[in-house]
Amino acid sequence: MRTWMLAGTGLAAIASGFVGSAEAAGRLTLYCATDEAWCQLMATEFEKATGIDVAMTRKSSGETFAQIKAEKDNPKGDIWWGGTGDPHLQAAEEGLTDVYESPMNGELHDWALAQYEVSGGRTVGIYAGALGFGYNTELLAQKGLAAPACWADLIKPEYKGEVQMANPNSSGTAYTALATFVQLMGEDKGFEYLKALHANINQYTKSGSAPIKAAAQGETMVGIVFQHDAVTMKAGGAPIAVVSPCEGTGYEIGSMSIIAGARNVEEAEQFYDFALKADVQTKAREAKSYQVPSNKNAPPPPESPKLTEIKLIDYDFAKYGSSAERSRLLGKWDSEVSAMPR
Ligand code: G6P
Repeated sequence: MRTWMLAGTGLAAIASGFVGSAEAAGRLTLYCATDEAWCQLMATEFEKATGIDVAMTRKSSGETFAQIKAEKDNPKGDIWWGGTGDPHLQAAEEGLTDVYESPMNGELHDWALAQYEVSGGRTVGIYAGALGFGYNTELLAQKGLAAPACWADLIKPEYKGEVQMANPNSSGTAYTALATFVQLMGEDKGFEYLKALHANINQYTKSGSAPIKAAAQGETMVGIVFQHDAVTMKAGGAPIAVVSPCEGTGYEIGSMSIIAGARNVEEAEQFYDFALKADVQTKAREAKSYQVPSNKNAPPPPESPKLTEIKLIDYDFAKYGSSAERSRLLGKWDSEVSAMPR
């Protein structure tokens, strides 16, 4: 009996020792909304740097927002890294994410801190990128079409069935497109444009970058995406041309937020600080991600579309990232655009 008890105590001590060290190393549940390769790289690099176990899932920006909202009473995620800034702002307004002031904030560009300020400290910018489109040069030549250079080109009858974009409910990229057309053309003309575009769309995908991956495979001629996503395909050797539309275009401030009620808050804060470091942001190019980094000491990769040379609109993040406006525009797109026959 005595022997058993001793052995039992020893086992318990060993077991608790193991539990203790696992707890010391920690764990983190990461909701990731950039492209898969960059999500994987961030999870691996953070594990290497800290020993913290990362459970990562990749979903599009709108889907991640919806998941965090659905899990509000029993949060399962700790940190939401990446994806367009608008749904991060909506999450902040709805109290789904928490305030955190990182010691890294001093190294960030003003546009990244603008997200932080407008959200009362609940989100911050990690990268920026301009919207545009890409097209498959071989398909264009086969059809004998003139190269599209403007948003206006994509609604021409000769592009019927040739254009792909994501669904703005699931995808932050497509919501950026929707909000861009509204800001560029005014709401009535913007929706007229979206309806005309609908007639030329062959498919609304779930993820924002899927249309340019399809264009790279020759499955669609044109994909409305962030320009850096088209650059990724070009860098991979696909016959893709990248277009910065002649009328001007919107852009994203890819963002990061700590989920309210996170079980692993300390690890989430560690990840947050890590993700804002210059050397970590510079690694994005290893995953063929060519956004402009938010840390001033991280130079944009040479392949990055130059934001200073692109005709950018003054995208109103506070308005288009607000809960009321984002929900209203998505509802209107559902009832007035996507419900129309094609
Ligand atoms: C791609 C882009 C990111 C963007 C993200 C949004 O991964 O490279 O810059 O933030 O798409 O994804 P979503 O699927 O929500 O459009």
